[in-house]
Amino acid sequence: MVLEAIRYNGGKLSIIDQLQLPFLESYIDIQTSEEGWQTIKKMQVRGAPAIAIVAALSLASELQQLLTQNKLPTNAEEVAVFIIERLTYLVTSRPTAVNLSDAARKLESIVSKSAQSSGATAQEVASTFIIAAEAMLTKDIEDNTAIGEHGARWISTKALPEQQSKAIVLTHCNTGSLATAGYGTALGVIRSLMSNGGLRHAYCTETRPYNQGSRLTAFELVHDEIPATLITDSMVAALLSRRGDQVNAIVVGADRVSANGDTANKIGTYGLAVLARHHGVKFLVAAPLTTIDLATKSGDDIIIEERPPSEVTRIKGLEEDDVTGDAKLGTVKIAADGIDVWNPAFDVTPFALIDGIITERGVAEKGADGLFHLEEFFG
Ligand code: MRU
Repeated sequence: MVLEAIRYNGGKLSIIDQLQLPFLESYIDIQTSEEGWQTIKKMQVRGAPAIAIVAALSLASELQQLLTQNKLPTNAEEVAVFIIERLTYLVTSRPTAVNLSDAARKLESIVSKSAQSSGATAQEVASTFIIAAEAMLTKDIEDNTAIGEHGARWISTKALPEQQSKAIVLTHCNTGSLATAGYGTALGVIRSLMSNGGLRHAYCTETRPYNQGSRLTAFELVHDEIPATLITDSMVAALLSRRGDQVNAIVVGADRVSANGDTANKIGTYGLAVLARHHGVKFLVAAPLTTIDLATKSGDDIIIEERPPSEVTRIKGLEEDDVTGDAKLGTVKIAADGIDVWNPAFDVTPFALIDGIITERGVAEKGADGLFHLEEFFG
């Protein structure tokens, strides 16, 4: 069965509650943009492409209901103003991933054009938005499949020593079906290697402090029966320095790739890139073009979201009673009360440490000048 993080049908949106995974697979209905904002903020849905799609579809659901109940503002102009105000609000839910603001900007332009066309009605503007938001869902799955194929081919041809046909790959955070409309980016590369017989083994990091690796990626790897091992973030150096069974490539996703290739991704990614360079392991970023932000010149200009201290001082999991075997979801404290905490959700990996950026249009590598030319992938 295919893992579906986002379910959408005829204006009805529901998402799998990622805070309950891997223990409980429960879906939450989202009927309004306000509910969409809340689920993104609380990380019930997370991952750069997924939050953009859920934001857009939450507003599509709201508009669909207003349409059905005949409650839309009366004219085309007013509907456009309403949609743009809601999009601006949705963008405030999480700042680092560019996919959300990129989607909002594109949808805003579509809606403005629709409202300005002569004789446009309120209903037409709302319907134009709904169709454009729905198209994002399908496009993301197509893009991820292409990313998976390009990445798998690159690893098989450029990351393996002669005589080796199957790759050992490490990934960080969750970039799979749960972080996208489906299939995934970095995890899509692993899925693609697996389906064409090119994967020997996958490693996923726990990804402290929020444990997207152990809770979500491990869940997806088990779900798809991919040969995989979970390690804590602090074990990567030891794994890369092991003799025999060398990791061939580290593949991660991205929340924002700036014009020069500097990449913001889940906290810990930068450390992995440093370790990869030290051990001669290829380091790849897998991301759709919607994650590449040519307007942001370098990583210095990327805003890094800081999240609450409680994500570091507490941990959520399934409590099991040793005697009765009863289990319930719970949160436990793991740090001394009163300690100061710094909790940046992302870090920036300098482009110099990245060997390739895998997109749906192919893998970008640095030119003879040592620089990425990502603009070539657009237009
Ligand atoms: O804080 P999160 O869980 O939203 O962070 C997710 C990541 O950093 C992912 O690697 C990134 O969004 C790419 S998802 C395809």
